[in-house]
Formats: sequence, structure tokens, C-alpha cells
Amino acid sequence: MCNHNDYEEDIKQLFINNSQWVDEINQRDELFFSNLSTQQTPEYLWIGCSDSRVPANELVKMDPGMVFVHRNIANLVNSGDMNVLAVIQYAVEILKVKHIIVTGHYGCGGVQAAINTSNPDLIDNWIRPIRKYYQRAKSGLKNLSTDEQVDRLCEINVIEQVRNICYIPVIKKAWRDGQALSIHGFIYDIKDGHLHNLNVTVDNADDAEKAVSRK
Ligand code: CO
Repeated sequence: MCNHNDYEEDIKQLFINNSQWVDEINQRDELFFSNLSTQQTPEYLWIGCSDSRVPANELVKMDPGMVFVHRNIANLVNSGDMNVLAVIQYAVEILKVKHIIVTGHYGCGGVQAAINTSNPDLIDNWIRPIRKYYQRAKSGLKNLSTDEQVDRLCEINVIEQVRNICYIPVIKKAWRDGQALSIHGFIYDIKDGHLHNLNVTVDNADDAEKAVSRK
């Protein structure tokens, strides 16, 4: 059992923070929440890692309503994951986002775990695709330090997810129908807060394969 008072304090703080946040926004724009309540028209779908140090909206200075967000461990887009597929379908077909951004981050624990020895747990099962990327890239990474290997694999992982998104039927259909939609791969550096473009953007079906296989 946890100490009752301890958790009450932790939770109370969230509501104090929330009230302050509402006040700050209302001071800036008193119609902000009433305008936002009528609709959402985000132009971006963000697919990022669940890591607490990589807050989606915050690091690109985007207000509520501007980014549709999906996060999971190691920012993976697996073709069997109903959750991410539903998010992508909703974002593309209903919200009609213009950009899907896969954002990885250096030093990702999920990616790091994929380099280490396998464990018989659920997380290990989740990151299995990254083990496959590592096996494929391993010989090219052998002269790098362990940290550098992890960081390079973090980049490779993002590029692989951009590729995976290109193969999703909803995306292919959007391109076939002439919808403006670009898929991007970014990487975030936790050490200095900077976001970097991996320059693997794909915005049509013809370029999908060659664009992502260049890197
Ligand atoms: Co991570």
C-alpha cells in the first residue's frame, strides 16, 4: 500500500498546475478554449517515443489543437498495431493532416534494449523489430562506441518507421487520391533540446521506396 498523503500531494499538484495553465492561456487569449472546443484542425500527426523527456507539443512550441499525437515505446509503427493504424487512419482521412512526423530521440531506452541480450518480457516483444534493424546494420556499426551505436540505431529506427508508414494502405490511398501528405523523420537530442531533420521526407508513392532506402 502506498502512503495516502504522499500520493494525494502528488495528484493535487497536477490540478494546481492545470489551473495556472488555464489562467495563463486565458490571459493571452480569452477565446482560446471556446474556439478550440468547436473543432480540431491539426496539420501534423506526431509519432514519438513515450519518453517523458520528449514532449511532443512543447518542443515544437505548438498550442493545443495543432498536433495530433501518438506515442509509444521507441516510436514504432508496426503493421499489426491496431492503435497506431487507427490513429494514422483518423489523422489522414478525417483530420486530413498534411504531415506525419516520426520523431525518435538519441539515447532511446527502447532502442538500447534492442542491442542488449533478449529478455522474455512484453517490452522485449514490442521492440523486436528494432533487433532486426540492428542485426542488419550491425557490421556497419562495429567501429562505433556503444553510445554511438545506439544513436545511429535510433536514426535507423526512425527511417524504418517512415518506410513502414509508406506501406500502410491508408497512406497509399491518400497519395493515389491526390491528397497532400508528407511523411518525415526527425530525431531529438535530449542533451541539448534540438530537433534534427533526418531528411527522409516522402510525399508520393513513387518516391516512397527510393527515398527511404537512400539512407
Ligand atoms: Co525512447
